[in-house]
Amino acid sequence: MSRDRWRIVNPRGEKRVIVTRDLPGDRWVEILSAAGCRVEIFTGPAALSPDEIRQGIGSRCDGVIGQLVEAWNESLFQALQGAGGKVYSNYAVGFNNIDLAAATRCGIAVGNTPGVLTEATAELAVALTLAAARRLGEAERHLRAGKWKRWLPQLFLGTQLRGKTVGVIGAGRIGAAYARMMMEGHKTDILYFSLRPKPDLEAFADAYNRFLTARQELPVVCRRAEAVEDLLREADCVSIHTPLDEGTRHLIDAECLALMKPDAVLVNTSRGPVVDEAALVAHCRRHPRFRAALDVYEEEPALAPGLADLENVVLVPHIGSATHWAREGMAILAACNVAAVLVGNPVWNRAAVDAFLRADQPPAAPSILNAEALNLPLVKAAD
Ligand code: DGY
Repeated sequence: MSRDRWRIVNPRGEKRVIVTRDLPGDRWVEILSAAGCRVEIFTGPAALSPDEIRQGIGSRCDGVIGQLVEAWNESLFQALQGAGGKVYSNYAVGFNNIDLAAATRCGIAVGNTPGVLTEATAELAVALTLAAARRLGEAERHLRAGKWKRWLPQLFLGTQLRGKTVGVIGAGRIGAAYARMMMEGHKTDILYFSLRPKPDLEAFADAYNRFLTARQELPVVCRRAEAVEDLLREADCVSIHTPLDEGTRHLIDAECLALMKPDAVLVNTSRGPVVDEAALVAHCRRHPRFRAALDVYEEEPALAPGLADLENVVLVPHIGSATHWAREGMAILAACNVAAVLVGNPVWNRAAVDAFLRADQPPAAPSILNAEALNLPLVKAAD
């Protein structure tokens, strides 16, 4: 691997941090430089292979910022440990590409970037919901192909969302933000499934209903489903926001799809393997009025055979968090994770991470997933 493909910032820094793909914005590099790091950034066009990452780590490396497309397994963490490394941060909130137990065994702190991409990803899920419900992909392809001859009363009739039931699978930060946007922006009812009730989300709906009823408008309903199956049967549109783990792989399979209404909409902005993509292709073929909108895929960047030929699907290339603000924020959080661990600062341990986007950042690591397992110090409640 040619060294010309690496951009070096702060060459005299005492600690060595490698970054496996250049990131947006400048603030993140300033944070690492201010923490005394020499930052080596891979700028080549292709993704680094595990061997190339190992070469990049070399014999001395204190920390790494890596990508969700890289499998951070035992062998990479051992290479990092062998090079004296202390910390790895994913440039993502999702961490299904990381063997967290292996990292912990190697004594490597693992960071991720929650909070800053919540709104961006929820907004994309809303956009995909509308695109699928209103058949935007089909309509645009029709127009671009020169097939549009005139206005017609029945051209691309779709589903109006107001008053419909939207099912939200996984009501964590992103799922709850999506639910709020759908309630408030489109006045849909929300049926959510999550392991625990979400009182904040339900309180939001109650407050919004006070506003709606004061205006003589119909209130919305927001309630938790007992089971995913109930949600699938009842919802007109289902949006998936659950993390990928062994419990959620193929959560939506052929049987689940068969429970859904024949003209329902399925949106996935979480992780591809949560949906059995081959089963989805078969379902969309059998039910032309069913619609799916996907941002994520089982074997990215490959698509299941037949998926791209379907008229009733909208497909975008994993761009949920792709806004300038979110992606720069993710870079800042990843840099803060690495810098804080390397200078020995404690872990933030709180949901709100906005403080890290300000100029006077807290001296802490915003989000370390194995902080407890590694016994890392936490920021004290009163700090
Ligand atoms: C994440 O952060 O996990 C997202 O998938 C990146 O867009």
